[in-house]
Amino acid sequence: MTTYHCPQDGIRSSTSALTWRCPICRGPWDLDFTPASGLAPHVLSGRANSLWRYEEILPLATPSASLGEGRTPLVALTETVSAKLDYLMPTLSFKDRGAVMLAELARRLGPERVVADSSGNAGTSIAAYCARAGLPCTVYVPEGTSAKKTEQIRAHGAVLVTVPGGREATALAARAAADEPGVFYASHVFNPYFLHGTKTYVYELWEDLGGRLPDTLVVPVGNGTLLLGAALATAELHALGLIADRPRLVAVQAEAVSPLAAAFRAEAEDLLPAGPVAPTLAEGIAIPRPPRARQILAAVRASGGTFLTVSEDEIRDAQRDLAARGFYVETTGVACWAAVRGGSGLGQRLELGSVVVPLCGAGVKTGMAG
Ligand SMILES: Cc1ncc(COP(=O)(O)O)c(C=O)c1O
Repeated sequence: MTTYHCPQDGIRSSTSALTWRCPICRGPWDLDFTPASGLAPHVLSGRANSLWRYEEILPLATPSASLGEGRTPLVALTETVSAKLDYLMPTLSFKDRGAVMLAELARRLGPERVVADSSGNAGTSIAAYCARAGLPCTVYVPEGTSAKKTEQIRAHGAVLVTVPGGREATALAARAAADEPGVFYASHVFNPYFLHGTKTYVYELWEDLGGRLPDTLVVPVGNGTLLLGAALATAELHALGLIADRPRLVAVQAEAVSPLAAAFRAEAEDLLPAGPVAPTLAEGIAIPRPPRARQILAAVRASGGTFLTVSEDEIRDAQRDLAARGFYVETTGVACWAAVRGGSGLGQRLELGSVVVPLCGAGVKTGMAG
């Protein structure tokens, strides 16, 4: 097995240990992993019709925890903007890309139980993949999480713990449980295997576009798992000589909870002291203190991208607009379309070239906002 390393302190730990964060700075791990060469569009024909087809670039192989995740369609919304329909994944959100990696790793390690915390979708996904892998699982969610998400978590047999006091309190409760002996913390935030799953979003685009990527990838950001997966993929594809230019990464937050957008505008390398937060329809990206903030800010800057924020009205309008076009998407999953569609926002004034937005959670999870 390979090793984790801390991007701050350089500390290393075996991935077969259950140590879920750096013991010095208490920050998230990165993974020591270099993809194998040999990936090319023509070698992919005949391989599994799932994200496991990109075997050269994945840190795990031959999974038994798979539910057939990946290979979601790319469809045009306008002449320049296309949508990747990650709401068509097995548990109806993009989180399956990362959750399958964590469940597969956990299955190999054989812990007494798995613990996760989430605003809903990651927990649902971990619950489903633990069910598939035969692992007992406990999921912590904030009070007020969409009823459809909690119903789905329970349906997969996970123990559901509802925590009063918001997303931060939920994370603290889960981390206390994660420190108990025999527990595998299936954290989409702290465990870097998750990012090596979400990076397949970009490998699929690269394959579908005939070995190219769009000029701009617009990505919703709470804890940044899709954003950091996308950054990892573009760096790997570039290092492998499979793309000449890296796309711009444009990160989207809800105005109501936008700590990263605020830090980006202040040209800061890390989060600013806690700013105001307000309730938002985009529950999946309502993260006041994302632990990977430094990496997210650095990745967006290195790509030449930027941050955009969307108002509650823009989220509502974008959801209605997508539904009217035939796409039934949850309130968080419409944020990127809200940022780049018509209107007077910065998204319209930027020269984005060809753009892909993810529609990354299904409408049945939240219903219509109004
Ligand atoms: C539908 C949807 N989109 C985007 C996100 C944001 O993902 P992340 O917190 O990893 O940035 C989430 C997270 O739960 C989500 O459920």
